[in-house]
Amino acid sequence: MRVHVADHPLITHKLTVLRDQRTTSPVFRQLTEELVTLLAYEATRGVRIEPIEIQTPVTTTMGVRISEPRPIVVPILRAGLGMLEGMVKLLPTAEVGFLGIVRNEETLEPSTYAERLPDDLSDRQCFVLDPMLATGGSLGAAIDYLFDRGAVDVTAICILAAPEGLEALKKLVGDRDVTLVLGAVDERLNEHGYIVPGLGDAGDRLYGTA
Ligand code: PRP
Ligand code: URA
Repeated sequence: MRVHVADHPLITHKLTVLRDQRTTSPVFRQLTEELVTLLAYEATRGVRIEPIEIQTPVTTTMGVRISEPRPIVVPILRAGLGMLEGMVKLLPTAEVGFLGIVRNEETLEPSTYAERLPDDLSDRQCFVLDPMLATGGSLGAAIDYLFDRGAVDVTAICILAAPEGLEALKKLVGDRDVTLVLGAVDERLNEHGYIVPGLGDAGDRLYGTA
């Protein structure tokens, strides 16, 4: 598993505002979108492309286009939905699939309650979106799901990760082709499985407590 932790002053600045408990939902949503676009730039470095010939007003030249089959972007509901706009801004031709996964706040075990994805993901590049990688259970379930459907490589974009979750995910992934692009790796998980210092409950901060 490859892990890339962003190191950019704009990302750190936006993350600081995101963490601040005084930041309101509208600002939190806006910042999440902006952060994803910055992280997506790194996450899409390996997007498959093919050469094409085009005509400029002056001459014929070679360029590239994104290869078929188109990449698929998979936000993990709910909080991952807050990252979707920022991602498709950069990859407008991508398809979008959905996975609904919630963790049980007592046992910290994830359960999948919704899915809308193509049956066959053979040869598809998958980009998973979830702002929080805490125990790694939810992202691990999503990665298993995508590989079971034939995906050959998965890139996950998370805004924050905990070291414990990264370790667990490394073991679960094994030698499968998985890349993680992270805004930051925080100190630890607390006794409730929350990332410290973290930003609290990402879904609640984006959408409220419904
Ligand atoms: C949050 C977050 C991740 C998960 C991380 O979702 O968006 O999906 O927790 O925790 P884990 O790494 O320990 O599995 P949550 O279950 O709160 O659902 P929500 O997005 O609907 O709020
Ligand atoms: N889910 C969140 O939204 N935040 C955490 O810190 C851990 C899990």
